[in-house]
Amino acid sequence: MKAVILVGGQGMRLRPLTCTLPKPMLPLINRPFIEHVLAHLKRHGIDEVILSAGYLPATFDDYFKEIDDLGLKLELVAEDTPLGTCGAVKNVADRLDDTFMVFNGDILTDINLSHLLEYHRQKGAMATIALTSVDDPTSYGLVPLKGDGQVEAFIEKPNWDDVTTDLINAGTYILEPEALALAPAGENYSFERGLFPLMLDRGLPVYGWPAGSYWLDIGSPEKYMRAHHDLLDGKILFDFAGSELKPRVWVGEGTVVDPGAMVYGPVVMGKNCVVEADAVVVGPTSLGDDCVISAGARVEGSVLLNGCRLAGSAVIKNSILGRRVSIGRKVHVDDVSVLGDNLAVGEDNLLRHGIKIWPDTKIGPGTITF
Ligand code: GDD
Ligand code: MG
Repeated sequence: MKAVILVGGQGMRLRPLTCTLPKPMLPLINRPFIEHVLAHLKRHGIDEVILSAGYLPATFDDYFKEIDDLGLKLELVAEDTPLGTCGAVKNVADRLDDTFMVFNGDILTDINLSHLLEYHRQKGAMATIALTSVDDPTSYGLVPLKGDGQVEAFIEKPNWDDVTTDLINAGTYILEPEALALAPAGENYSFERGLFPLMLDRGLPVYGWPAGSYWLDIGSPEKYMRAHHDLLDGKILFDFAGSELKPRVWVGEGTVVDPGAMVYGPVVMGKNCVVEADAVVVGPTSLGDDCVISAGARVEGSVLLNGCRLAGSAVIKNSILGRRVSIGRKVHVDDVSVLGDNLAVGEDNLLRHGIKIWPDTKIGPGTITF
């Protein structure tokens, strides 16, 4: 079975993290997010994957050159201009001559793809859309169903007035080549506003399958952080790398945690980290490789990517630090704030209320205090 993964979006809502990396290449517990998606596909027997990229495509190439143990045949196709979700798949239609799958590249899920395929075949569908329930369907594609499982309508980003169900498009489709044949070639075209409504207009067999599995779109800082928390809390299957220092505290090779440090799991630390005596790390927290948590510093409920350094009495709570962020003494970061790569924060700053600071910035001592 072949699959196309859509990874061409700019990940605007996850800026500043996505200023330097596309969303699917952002680490999730120290592995590029796309690796979690690929592992899921592989578990269900998908052996050939086309990655449809557009934004910072070289980052995928560099990464996949480095690793060779995925056990999947992988091809990267980069668009010059964004073709939209369906246009991106149409772009590789010559490789898709049998039933195939399409995935949004920013979804963390353990949807049972084998059952989805069985359902698709049993219904004789031309397209089957996996569905999930959410509290606020207005940020997604709403998919009301008829009694027999056929899709009644597809309403992308509906108003509350249109919301008649909590079932939304989970960003996982099974398609027949005949469905893709209906899409125009060489232009920006989407499944959500283009192909699916067109197929419904024509009365073609489009089915929806409520998946009832763990499901999360990681596309905002809150959800990117929640993905970490959920993996650390064991809500979705994950094989933690490294050794277990104590129950639910996993550390990578070369990481040194002083016996006088206080670490409360679930916590993951990458390789070569240093946690000094009197430092406090409270889970669910994920530290990348080469992080330094100095004596007296505290990290709680946060995500620190590779190479972050905290001076004494710095506090990072429920926030995300990009790569190589350096935090001075008495700095307090809180409330889902997001700091971009290579940021240097001088002492005595208060970074709260979901503040976002762009990469390569230097913040002098005592500059931000509200
Ligand atoms: N190659 C390519 N080209 N990929 C694209 C393009 C493009 O022009 N535009 C978006 N993508 C990729 C993104 O990288 C992402 O993986 C996926 O397509 C979906 O785009 P998002 O920007 O994340 O869309 P969304 O989250 O607002 O909505 C979509 O996902 C929801 C589920 O999370 C829709 O499919 C909704 O219907 C759905 O409910
Ligand atoms: Mg999304």
